[in-house]
Amino acid sequence: MNLGLQGKVAIVTGASRGIGNAIAHGLADEGCKLTICARGEEALASAAAALREKGAEVVEVCLDITDADAGEVLTQKTLDAYGSIDVFVGNAGGNRRGQFADTSDQDWQDIIELNLKSHLNTSRAVLPTMKQQGSGSIIFITSIFGREAGGPGLSIYNSTKSALISASKIMAVELAADGIRVNSVAPGSIRFPGGSWDKRCISDPEGMKAFIGDNIPLGRFGKAEEVADAVTYLSSDRASWISGTCIPVDGVQSKSLI
Ligand SMILES: NC(=O)c1ccc[n+]([C@@H]2O[C@H](COP(=O)([O-])OP(=O)(O)OC[C@H]3O[C@@H](n4cnc5c(N)ncnc54)[C@H](OP(=O)(O)O)[C@@H]3O)[C@@H](O)[C@H]2O)c1
Repeated sequence: MNLGLQGKVAIVTGASRGIGNAIAHGLADEGCKLTICARGEEALASAAAALREKGAEVVEVCLDITDADAGEVLTQKTLDAYGSIDVFVGNAGGNRRGQFADTSDQDWQDIIELNLKSHLNTSRAVLPTMKQQGSGSIIFITSIFGREAGGPGLSIYNSTKSALISASKIMAVELAADGIRVNSVAPGSIRFPGGSWDKRCISDPEGMKAFIGDNIPLGRFGKAEEVADAVTYLSSDRASWISGTCIPVDGVQSKSLI
């Protein structure tokens, strides 16, 4: 399938490692020009270098996406370099586990900022450009635990991921007339070197074997590249009739019917 992404311009947040990095590579492999961001300068620089090595044009922006001007900065630097923005991928995110009774206002505020508000702020900043172009694809990385209950200790994570899926649906409705599609991708448990599941597999291999047996019918953790493939497809015009949806990439891990 020719995705027609050659020469398109994509912003990927949180692309120095893990799923965001795989998404940047997926888009680069299809010929996209990229803007990538993260807070850690060294990891971001080496991620940019690896992408350039395969021939991609890359603008790297070291910032915290929860900063109020992050969207403006990412948009301006992308326009300065390439003059257009076709794809925005909001990937950076995190978790703060804890029984609800033990969570603090600060815990909620921090993760709402990271998992919800930063995505809304940064994607809103690209809208004037996409509206002017009459086209664009926005994709948020959420979680299967935004589509269904994740269990004890996940009240903050679950709530922020659900809220982002909800907001993206309304964005899709409102922006359809401008030719802008908005979707999200909900990964299940994704293992990559140095990631949280990888660390747990190394420290507790038997426990993780049992976890997979109990939770993932396809019998293994997902790969970051498998999430990236879904994002790359949604980025392209081959997904032109897909908007307002949330696609799980989870090896049948989630139980939700919708
Ligand atoms: N891994 C999984 O199994 C899994 C499952 C479901 C959903 N997800 C979701 O998928 C997304 C990526 O997960 P991951 O496991 O790949 O995460 P990760 O390994 O922690 O990587 C996160 C990336 O985002 C950057 N980042 C984090 N906070 C940032 C901030 N405030 N400003 C700018 N950049 C920031 C990190 O770089 P710096 O730290 O240097 O900033 C890094 O590049 C998240 O939204 C996560 O919730 C992951």
